Amino acid sequence: RSVRKANWAALPADVQDENLDLIFAQAMWRHGDRAPEHAVPGCDKFQFSEDDWTFGGGGYGELSPEGMKMHFNLGRKLRERYITKIFPGFVSKAYNAKEIYIRSTDFNRTLISAYANLQGMFSGNGEADKNYPTDVPEWPTNYVPIPVHTVALNTDFFGRPDTKCARQDQLYDMIKQNVEYQAYSNDHQVSQLLKYLSDETGTEVNVDNIYELENPLFCEKTHIEDLNGIGANISDLYPWFYTGEVESMVEWVLDKHEQFTDGTGNPNGVNGIDISVEIPKIRAGETLKSLVGNIHGVLKCKEDENAYSCRKFYRKLRYYALSAHDTTLSAFLTILGVKKYVVPEGYPNYSAAILLEVYQEKTTNEKYFKVLYHAGVDDTGKPITAFVRGCDITSSICPIAVLDDLVAKYSPDTDMATLCATPPDGAPPASTTATAKPVDGASTTTTFTSTTTK
Ligand SMILES: *[C@@H]1O[C@H](CO)[C@@H](O)[C@H](O)[C@H]1NC(C)=O
Ligand SMILES: *[C@@H]1O[C@H](CO)[C@@H](O)[C@H](O)[C@H]1NC(C)=O
Ligand SMILES: *[C@@H]1O[C@H](CO)[C@@H](O)[C@H](O)[C@H]1NC(C)=O
Repeated sequence: RSVRKANWAALPADVQDENLDLIFAQAMWRHGDRAPEHAVPGCDKFQFSEDDWTFGGGGYGELSPEGMKMHFNLGRKLRERYITKIFPGFVSKAYNAKEIYIRSTDFNRTLISAYANLQGMFSGNGEADKNYPTDVPEWPTNYVPIPVHTVALNTDFFGRPDTKCARQDQLYDMIKQNVEYQAYSNDHQVSQLLKYLSDETGTEVNVDNIYELENPLFCEKTHIEDLNGIGANISDLYPWFYTGEVESMVEWVLDKHEQFTDGTGNPNGVNGIDISVEIPKIRAGETLKSLVGNIHGVLKCKEDENAYSCRKFYRKLRYYALSAHDTTLSAFLTILGVKKYVVPEGYPNYSAAILLEVYQEKTTNEKYFKVLYHAGVDDTGKPITAFVRGCDITSSICPIAVLDDLVAKYSPDTDMATLCATPPDGAPPASTTATAKPVDGASTTTTFTSTTTK
């Protein structure tokens, strides 16, 4: 998926205030361009098998060289911001293990995106015999190895909104019984479209699995030239039934569906439950809590780096990044309350990024934050702070206390395992099949469907 209507273009550029010192920066990005997660369902006439996708290690879901390039270039932009131009020296030119920490979800495409991004940010600036050996003639020019950390997918509530969570499944079951969802899924034109697609593909296409048809077609379209290299023609690659109006109707169905998965599709709640809080709490509550936790970690050390409350990890930390998915960014934009302004339709583009920066006012020592959105390869990043829930629309910065309020409202009070084991009031028993929107097509994740074929 990608954003189709982007209000970011109309936003003013970022302006530096000389009374503010940058003290901490965090980034979160979507991986770059990739292969589809699976074949087009039911479409035997599209002969592509997993073997036809050869890049990024080969097979379904892997990062393409184009995707690597996107991240190398994003790394270059981050280098300009934090190392060379906009905040020169904020992060050291040569990789310093105490200053940066990079986390990724445990997918090859997010890990490789992070490696490529870090080369964009640090390669060529390494110190010989410190960041790399000089007595190895074959050592790749400018290559500085940099660690990227990850955790097991089924525990990763920080990086992945669709990590299995019974409570989320139960909430979705309730949403699906609700009048708003029913009106959408039973809509006459939606039904007609689904019947048409089902007939053409010979599979049951419904609102919950239409993404599994749309996404491989999107990837095939993107890579139509590579795929032509295996001798296929355009009609093999891009089926006649999926052109023009059909494609845009499918996008509409998906946009609407995403509102239900993101928790914004039921403004009046469901069964007395505030879906607009309870879904974001599961999908990005842990992300928000961790990133704001990092901010307080750094601020404690800023006050007194010898204090007991200053944890060693934060003493010199300048930059923390998360390599993740469109769903991760979308859930985070939703929890901040900015998605409808920044990415009103569709999901963040490949290599889109969110920057969360903390500043200290030079005279008052007050701490503020700024949020910037990098919409994709064509963008340099624009501030979106003014749209954040609780921030002042006329100001380019916002007090840290606003983030604390968001944490209080939208983050779990318990650990995620406990939250996920807590059924929402009045919920039917846990469903047996997994639910939740496909993460950016991740085949190992659960999907928001009862008829999943994975
Ligand atoms: C990643 O690579 C490993 C092998 O290194 C492979 O087994 C796995 O299927 C790949 N896919 C994902 C989604 O990580
Ligand atoms: C494309 O290839 C299919 C067979 O794979 C063939 O039936 C069809 O006529 C070809 N179309 C064009 C436009 O060459
Ligand atoms: C986002 O991706 C679409 C194509 O999918 C492209 O047209 C658009 O320019 C991209 N936006 C940015 C900011 O890169």
